[in-house]
Amino acid sequence: MEIKITKTTSPKAKPADESKLGFGKIFTDHMFLMNYDEGQGWHDARIVPYGPIPMEPSSMCLHYGQADFEGLKAYRTESGRIQLFRPEQNMARMNVSNDRLCIPQIDEKFCVEAIKKLVEVDADWVPHQYGTSLYIRPFIFAIDPMLGVHPAKHLIFCIMCSPVGAYYAAGLAPVKIYVEQNYVRAVTGGTGFTKAAANYAISLKAQEEADKAGYEQVLWLDGVHRKYIEEVGAMNVFFVLDGEVITPSLDRKSILGGITRKSCLEILRHKGYKVTERDLEIDELIKAYDEGKFDEAFGTGTAAVISPIGELKYGDKIMTLNNGEIGPVSQMLYDTLTGIQWGKTEDTFGWTVPVIG
Ligand code: PLP
Ligand code: COI
Repeated sequence: MEIKITKTTSPKAKPADESKLGFGKIFTDHMFLMNYDEGQGWHDARIVPYGPIPMEPSSMCLHYGQADFEGLKAYRTESGRIQLFRPEQNMARMNVSNDRLCIPQIDEKFCVEAIKKLVEVDADWVPHQYGTSLYIRPFIFAIDPMLGVHPAKHLIFCIMCSPVGAYYAAGLAPVKIYVEQNYVRAVTGGTGFTKAAANYAISLKAQEEADKAGYEQVLWLDGVHRKYIEEVGAMNVFFVLDGEVITPSLDRKSILGGITRKSCLEILRHKGYKVTERDLEIDELIKAYDEGKFDEAFGTGTAAVISPIGELKYGDKIMTLNNGEIGPVSQMLYDTLTGIQWGKTEDTFGWTVPVIG
């Protein structure tokens, strides 16, 4: 399919101070759009000026939440190259979400090309400072103008971009996390393994309460037994217990299979660390802490990169980790991953995909 390009005649000013970008607050000049209509499939691929998308109040996504999204980044290297990190993984995962939500499959290869084209058009928006990047947000939503609850026959696929800095205000400084005991995010059979928009809506209440208590995020426990560690709001989670690196397995299908998680596992295994994907009970963490064997904890995600956890609270139990400082495994992963992403380290894994240069 050809991508028709209409460039803006009124480009916006780029952010003057890249150290103040924050996360997802400003958007570039263009967006990619493509429509789906039953009988026609995906059609009318186009890059147009960023702006409102007209739709009916009866649009299904507004009522029943038939919508999903992805998140990936474009990085500018010192040599001036602009590159993506494993975009094919995002598009493959989007089709997993699509399948669960009865959204028609996308052509993954074509969508990677669409991302590349959009980043090329908005290349001047990819920020320059180390640690900054262009966050790319592909998303799909149902626009059938009707109130019957059924899979949509008309949808829009959009890609928009936002120059970003650190996801957490604190940057690489350790975050404080609260183990959620009242609310659940997902159960087996639900949508926890997808990037359904609704997964984020149902997390807000817990997030709000954590905020009030002075914590950045919540750590979810499984929805059935309420004891197995799952993940954090926008990150998968890793623990280093007595030298062993452990992350919850994906077997229960209630957590997102993060691309950063997968990459970290590959780096750790490649470097010879002892790594295990398995069920991990909150009580095991507490026991390890009390025995002085809880070495480190960190979250992994596209937006958050590697985010060391400095404090973990479970009920009245407060666990302070690594003296509130970044630990050696977190630091190694941060250096290796960001080294590859920002082109400072050779990409021996073949993860980066050039857009320009
Ligand atoms: N878990 C959740 C719920 C997320 O929203 C994200 C972010 O996409 C992640 C984990 C990390 O996934 P990834 O590393 O692919 O960004
Ligand atoms: C990402 O890391 O790409 C995410 O999607 C996190 C987002 C929920 C802010």
